[in-house]
Amino acid sequence: MSHGGTPQEMSARAAGPLTGEAHVPGDKSISHRALILGAMAVGETKITGLLEGEDVLDTAKAMRAFGAEVTRHEDGSWSVHGVGTGGFAEPDQVIDCGNSGTGVRLIMGAMATCPISVTFTGDASLNKRPMARVTDPLALFGTQAVGRSGGRLPMTIVGARDAVPVRYVVPVPSAQVKSAVLLAGLNAPGQTVVIEKEATRDHTERMLAGFGAEISTEVTEEGRVITLTGQPELTPQTITVPRDPSSAAFPVCAALLVPGSDVLVPNIGLNPTRAGLFYTLQEMGADLTFENMREEGGEPVADLRAKYSPDMKGITVPAERAASMIDEYPVLSVVAANATGRTEMLGVKELRVKESDRIEAMATGLLANGVAVEAGEDWWTVEGAGPGSVAGGATVESHLDHRIAMSFLVLSMSAQEPVIVDDAAPIATSFPIFTDLMTALGASFETL
Ligand code: S3P
Repeated sequence: MSHGGTPQEMSARAAGPLTGEAHVPGDKSISHRALILGAMAVGETKITGLLEGEDVLDTAKAMRAFGAEVTRHEDGSWSVHGVGTGGFAEPDQVIDCGNSGTGVRLIMGAMATCPISVTFTGDASLNKRPMARVTDPLALFGTQAVGRSGGRLPMTIVGARDAVPVRYVVPVPSAQVKSAVLLAGLNAPGQTVVIEKEATRDHTERMLAGFGAEISTEVTEEGRVITLTGQPELTPQTITVPRDPSSAAFPVCAALLVPGSDVLVPNIGLNPTRAGLFYTLQEMGADLTFENMREEGGEPVADLRAKYSPDMKGITVPAERAASMIDEYPVLSVVAANATGRTEMLGVKELRVKESDRIEAMATGLLANGVAVEAGEDWWTVEGAGPGSVAGGATVESHLDHRIAMSFLVLSMSAQEPVIVDDAAPIATSFPIFTDLMTALGASFETL
């Protein structure tokens, strides 16, 4: 689904405390992977808790175009009848991945070693984003790619007929690149090795092991060395998708900022490669606790309780933590604006190539609303003047980026004057129930 539609101007307030339980949707990263690996197994994979956001629905549509049978059942569960590793059929239409970088990059990997040609496109945001980071390593398998200048979509990928396995050192901290190479390696004979210097989210590795692939990770001086044996027969799985920590971040941060709040966010995936924001908030002095820690479907899970936290302090968030909270910096900067003192965010260059340039988008919007921000190529700082100190009152641009839109709506809830987001429609890509869920906690939204 692409965002060519009418922009939806929106603002948010919180007249009183936010209270109650926030049942956020399923994890976006895990949802994409469940559909793609389900489509690459032979037989029926059952999925509960799948995120039904536009990004994931686009991936479901793509898997159907490759020949898998993907069904949503009345009880909200999904099933995928896969076609087997290397069994993708050539789609007879262009594959539109909408707003989703994860969708397009993972699917490119999954089809790269099948003897088919596929043309990919996306919305205005996705068609600006770099694809060479994926097509460069895929070329090592024998895959060809022709896109627009700068390695951008629309792009046609010609899958390798006789793929060879590869050894690849991922040059940027990116789970999407790592995953694309691993998915391509599934249909190459022999061992494909991916080395990452910094640990990024490891859902692909965990899920591949769950589907019965031979995969191991060794931590060496070179980094994490992931070895996958190609051409396994993947066994269909029953997958329970944990709720998304990146979506949980919004009600959690709103609760920390709105006076008197006390919100429980149950069943949140707390994979250590994803949980950096929550530890950062605790370090800042947030009243945020993990209750009922447990393991579900190979992923650590907990219930999060967040309470109003007027005593948070600015801190330095080290570069080593960036990968584990890369999607959470926009909302962290909103918390930082309401903490006391400077928050420094280091080693965050990747934020510049997300659904928008997130450093630029947040810095511009925060400045317009009275927050002091400084930014460089791979760092930025936010000067917090304490709880309730943000003036607000300005209109900000969301740049087709769901997380920018939600972050500024959280800012609006805690600012002196409402902040107006020029287009909140992209929220549907990852968190379609955001406004309903926040309204149930006590927030109010105005569509302008
Ligand atoms: C994702 C990886 C991250 C993240 C994105 C989801 C994934 O992107 O920002 O929202 O599911 O693999 P990069 O791999 O580009 O860091």
